[in-house]
Parts: sequence; C-alpha cells; structure tokens
Amino acid sequence: MLASVHTLLQSGSARDAVTVAGWVRTRRDSKDFSFIELNDGTCLTNLQILVEPGCPDYANIGNIHTGAAIRVDGELVASPGKGQRWEVRARRVHLVGPAPEDFPLQKKRHTDEYLRTIAHLRPRTNKYGAMFRIRARLAHAIHEFFHARGFYWIHTPIITGADCEGAGELFRVTTLDLANVPKLNGAVDFGQDFFGKEANLTVSGQLSVETCCLALGKVYTFGPTFRSENSNTSRHMAEFWMIEPEMAFADLRDDMALGEDLIRYLVRFVQRECAEDLDLFAKFVDRNLPATLENIAGHEFIRLPYTEAVDILQKSGRKFDYAPAWGRDLQSEHERFLTEDHFRQPVIVYDYPQGLKAFYMRQNDDGRTVAAMDILVPSIGEIVGGSQREERYDNLQRRIRELGFNEADYWWYLDTRKYGTVPHAGFGLGFERLLMLVTGVGNIRDVIPFPRTPKHLEF
Ligand code: 4AD
Ligand code: MG
Repeated sequence: MLASVHTLLQSGSARDAVTVAGWVRTRRDSKDFSFIELNDGTCLTNLQILVEPGCPDYANIGNIHTGAAIRVDGELVASPGKGQRWEVRARRVHLVGPAPEDFPLQKKRHTDEYLRTIAHLRPRTNKYGAMFRIRARLAHAIHEFFHARGFYWIHTPIITGADCEGAGELFRVTTLDLANVPKLNGAVDFGQDFFGKEANLTVSGQLSVETCCLALGKVYTFGPTFRSENSNTSRHMAEFWMIEPEMAFADLRDDMALGEDLIRYLVRFVQRECAEDLDLFAKFVDRNLPATLENIAGHEFIRLPYTEAVDILQKSGRKFDYAPAWGRDLQSEHERFLTEDHFRQPVIVYDYPQGLKAFYMRQNDDGRTVAAMDILVPSIGEIVGGSQREERYDNLQRRIRELGFNEADYWWYLDTRKYGTVPHAGFGLGFERLLMLVTGVGNIRDVIPFPRTPKHLEF
C-alpha cells in the first residue's frame, strides 16, 4: 500500500516499511549518498529520500532526474538534517517514468507567463500544486456550507436555449455543417439543427435553478459557465465556474446576508484548512495576504446604495478615467476606490439603476432602480452579482417586452410567476475570482488548471 507524503510527514513515530511514489523535484549527490526530494502532490512539502551505497539501486541513481516518477520502498526514520522531522531511507528505488534532462521545470522559479505556455506541466510546481489543492478544498467547502444550511445542489443544464443575462455573449452549439448551412427565407434554418432551434452554452444556471427554488425552497447550482465576451482582462475568462444559490421567501437583505456569510466562511476555511499552501502565497505572491484575509473574515461588509456610491465617487476629488455619474456602470477603478481607499474593506453596493441590470431583477418602488446587489472586494472589484427576482407576472412580462425579447422563449419562466409565485433572491459568486481573493493571485488565468481566453485554446 502506498503511503502519502502528507501522512508520513505528520507521523508520530518511525516506521519500518513504507512505500511512497511521486515525482522527483531535485536530486543532490554527495560522495557517499544521494538525497532525492520527492513530491507526491498530497502536500506542499517534499519528502527527503536518502539513498546510500548499500541500496541496490544506488549505482543507477544518475538516471533519476528532476521530473522523473519513482516509487520508493524504505523505512521512515527521524531526520538528522535541518528542515524536516522525517525522511525515508531507501531500500529500493524504482524508476517508474524517467524524465530526460530537458524537463522544463528545472529552475526553482519561472514566470507565470512562461508557466501558462506549459499548462500541462505547471501543476508540478509548488505554486500551482498549492493552487489546485486549495481550489479542490474550497469547492468541497462550498458544498458543505450549503448542505449545512439545507440547500439542495441542482444540476442545471450546460446546453440551453436561453440567454439568462441578455448580454448576447453566447457560444453557439450546433451540429450544422458550417460549410453548407441550410437556409430558409435567407436566414439560417435552425429547424434542421440538432435541437431544432438555436442552442448555446449556458452563461448562468440561474433561470433554471429558479424553477427548482420554487419547489425545493433553498437550492444552488455550481458548475462551469461560458461567456464569449471578448475582454482580455485579468478577471475574465470564456469558461469559468459559478456558484449560484437561490432562496424562496427571501428578499435582497437575505441575499446580501447569505453572500457575506458565504465569503467570510470560505476565507476562514482556507485560513484554517489550507494553512501550508496559503503560506506559499503569502510568501511569494502577496505579503499582505494574511492581513487582507483577516480583514475580510473579521469584519462586517459595508452596505451602500448605488446612489450613495456615485455620490462618494463624485465627491472623492479623484481623477477617474471614467467620470462617475448616476446611471453609468461602476468601472473597476470606481470599485477599487471604494474597497481599497474609501472603506478599505468589502462593500455591497445595491439598488442599481434598472437600465444597467438584467431583465429579471425586481423593480423598486422608485421606478428607476432594481433590487440588485454586487459584492465588491479589494484588488478584484466585483466578486458576486445578485438580486431579488421580479416575482410579479405583469412587471416581468412588461420588462421582457420593453427589452424586445422574444416573449415566447420565456414562456416557462413566466409560468413560474403565474403559479404560486413568491419573493425570491439569489446571486452568482465567481469561483475563480474567489480563488484570486484568497490567494492574492492577480491573474485569473493562474487559478484554473486550463484557462480559456480569446485566441487561447491549447491543452
Ligand atoms: O454578475 P453576473 O453576470 O451574474 C449572473 O450571472 C447572475 N445570473 C447570477 C445570479 O444571480 N444567479 O456574474 C456573477 C459573477 C460575477 O460577479 C463574477 O464573479 C463572475 O460571476 N463572472 C466571471 N468570472 C470570470 N470570468 C468571467 N467572464 C465572468 N463573468 C462573471
Ligand atoms: Mg455582474
């Protein structure tokens, strides 16, 4: 049975016979023995393997290069050296998969830009190993958070016929022959396509999850989401993961409270459960990370109506590239001013002008704003976007018509407001933006194993 390096390093006592397997980070030879630093992915720390002349594989140790996969039988002994409590004294070293000397990860540190060009190998670096462990742990913690609060995980479709956000950033799904597209009256005849109508990858599971919310009460969806927005920023990708809870009999205040609870819970979770990996990011990526995380977990978020936010920005005396004005979207420079300079903590901006937000948001009595909320955090800006939903049939139908949508496409969504409609609310948390927040990593391409951005689709 294989032992994990993580378990061995936590061991309370020496062990006579252990087997470990992993990848060689380095090999150091001295006159009388060799040391191999072995990493098996179970934790950041390497296990030191001591290979002495008495070991039958000592003679071939020169074939074991950085990057090779090996399996080691030996005994776990207290390490006399500095820096580790335990090491393995090898009885046998099996070369499972050799790595020639051109293995690209020889140096200790490479730039993120370079590592993106070898995304198939970067999980073998300390930083990306730590990142993807944190990513997996956090995903699990999210399910635990919702499970403990009585939310059901709903699997919403990836292929849909709806454009939830109405922003037109859709990836089309088709089986039509692109070299010979069927036409009807001059337009593409989607009647001949796989689904008999236009289909696309989902930009949000919200509309689907709402239907289950109005039956199971508290639900969420957590899955991949696709947007063809052509923005080459450090915060956008064409494929990202989103967590979208939805609560029946809930309003915007409940929604803001849930979003704040979730983020603070997850920050506490990584502080507690991912301490070793997190420490790497505090050392090499962002020295302020521990203070930033403590600030987020330890304080209540500010709640600020959009109208007041614009007021603060206008009175700030700051020269912004885009002048803040009521009715205009908050730019990331505005979001950063609020969270980094003015309040120095996360801010929930709510009650946005209707014209800036999606059709499904609940219309406020003032006739010009909707019950929307965005959670803004330092360095990143928007991490959550949510709202109370328009549950009144007539208002929703009017808005769909005003925006010139094809009402027939929304028949099922309108139906949910016809039969037993209730006030309900939800939000979307961008999983990659959350990972940027907790690790301090500045580019979204470095928090997902295989980033998809315009003109980049390798691996
Ligand atoms: O604000 P958004 O567009 O909200 C929705 O999609 C709603 N349907 C959610 C809901 O109410 N159920 O997106 C939500 C979050 C953003 O705040 C951001 O964190 C993330 O999703 N996000 C992206 N992350 C990476 N790349 C992109 N292109 C993203 N677009 C949105
Ligand atoms: Mg948004």
